[in-house]
Amino acid sequence: MRILAVGIATLDIINTVDAYPGEDQEVRASQQRLSRGGNATNTLVVLSQLGQKCDWAGVLADDPDSSYLIADLNRYNIDLGCCEAYPGGKTPTSYVSLSAATGSRTIVHYRDLPEYSAAAFEKVALEDYDWVHFEGRNVPDLALMLQRAKANGVSCSLEIEKPRAGIDELFGLPDVLLFSRAYAVEKGYDQPAEFLRSVQPLISRGGKVFLAWGEEGAVALDADGRLFSSPAFAPGQVVDTLGAGDVFNAGVIRALLCGSPVEQALEAACRLAGKKCGQEGLDGLGRE
Ligand code: FRU
Repeated sequence: MRILAVGIATLDIINTVDAYPGEDQEVRASQQRLSRGGNATNTLVVLSQLGQKCDWAGVLADDPDSSYLIADLNRYNIDLGCCEAYPGGKTPTSYVSLSAATGSRTIVHYRDLPEYSAAAFEKVALEDYDWVHFEGRNVPDLALMLQRAKANGVSCSLEIEKPRAGIDELFGLPDVLLFSRAYAVEKGYDQPAEFLRSVQPLISRGGKVFLAWGEEGAVALDADGRLFSSPAFAPGQVVDTLGAGDVFNAGVIRALLCGSPVEQALEAACRLAGKKCGQEGLDGLGRE
């Protein structure tokens, strides 16, 4: 199976702190590491380890940090043939504080790079793919890209992580919607099932919806509107939650591509995300 993901790659500078600092405090990090991040590429790195052929469609800046990203994606055999090279800009960078006390990750993100455009996506040979996954960003172009994917009959998923103007108008386009808890909370919901019911009228006929809810697990609606829930599969110790949502999305996509029903895909995704929280980074998530 061949999967294309449209979205970003970032340089993550991850400082582990004993506990998350208060405003205007000065604390010392107990550890620092660099990593390639970004939702779309995180999801691909996991899918690749799960045995899928993966391609990334995104924008690369013309700076030294992009070489780091390319080397990492090469390590996971992710094809960059659909990417655009931008003559300038800066690799999107996330400054992450990882709390050893809770495993929470607090992110300050800086970017100065154009988004992947619908014009670039026009050149992608969609018939080569079994699935296209989109990050919910750059809404006007995203609408055109989703419409093209739909017109070509390729299965597609859309991740909705943050509220962005007009994004709810796209809910009817993809086959699968993957919402974050942060999005549902910003929309005023503290009960995941209630949130799903609120978006149900907006989704496509036969569409499936997933919503990860952290340590409380996740919920989903199948194509017939049936609601399922799964507990979280917490590791013995929460070590690192950075990218757990992206891992959950990889678990859903992988299971649905393999023909699993929504209920099983939901549980498989929760298990994979739980495993991720018990380890640093994304390496080894393909191993049973
Ligand atoms: C985790 C992540 C990080 C990245 C940030 C971008 O989900 O993809 O790797 O820095 O989110 O928003």
